[in-house]
Amino acid sequence: MSAPSQPTPQVPLRSTPQVPLRSRPGDAADVARVWDARADRYLELFRHELAGKPFDREVLAAFAGRVGAGGRVRDAGCGPCGHVTALLAGHGLDVLGVDLSPRCVELARREHPGCRFEVMDQRAGGDRLDGLVSYYSLHDQPKSELAGTFAAWARLLRPGGELLVVAKEGTGDGVVDDPLGTGLRVYWAEFAASELEAAARAAGFVIGEITTREAYDDEIPTRRIYLPATRP
Ligand SMILES: C[S@@+](CC[C@H](N)C(=O)[O-])C[C@H]1O[C@@H](n2cnc3c(N)ncnc32)[C@H](O)[C@@H]1O
Repeated sequence: MSAPSQPTPQVPLRSTPQVPLRSRPGDAADVARVWDARADRYLELFRHELAGKPFDREVLAAFAGRVGAGGRVRDAGCGPCGHVTALLAGHGLDVLGVDLSPRCVELARREHPGCRFEVMDQRAGGDRLDGLVSYYSLHDQPKSELAGTFAAWARLLRPGGELLVVAKEGTGDGVVDDPLGTGLRVYWAEFAASELEAAARAAGFVIGEITTREAYDDEIPTRRIYLPATRP
């Protein structure tokens, strides 16, 4: 007599991964990891940088003037210094500084206890805003994400809302050795003014007067782009 057959166990051919897949250079998890590691060094180097940047202070003041006192604004990628958030708050705006890196947010809160900071992706949705500033927050992610970022900002701003993008000029778009000297490999993208303009236009923004300036003596020697735009 043959032994009764055992039920065949239902073993899936491939098991579903229970742990998240590894992050790719330049994705949100990678930006958070890299900036957590370099936040303290960045703060040490750049805590007082706006004091020596009269042109930038003027551009930010002009942005604040366009938004108007009390306007609700996001400082996208506020970093550990939180100084753009603080400067805009000083111009009477209701600003929230956001960053993917918890360490950046922790340090920014410590630097400016009177300001608001939260761990958040700069592209995250939320209540409609009167303005959004991106002060060097586009460099950590691939250029292929540029269109999606501008589209997210267009959704976030109310009609008539103001955008200001500040970025370094160049052609880079890949992984490099950290220029801050942390020994990390970091994602680094640079832009032409025409690329930023095209992405903003494609997202429906009306572009204002784009300006550029040479680097100051104590800055990384790349030209800076200032792109103001309005959501119609
Ligand atoms: C070069 S730092 C500039 C920080 C600050 N704006 C300043 O000028 O001091 C870039 C910052 O953008 C943040 N960042 C990059 N991509 C981001 C994203 N998708 N969402 C939120 N923060 C982001 C980084 O974590 C980093 O703190």
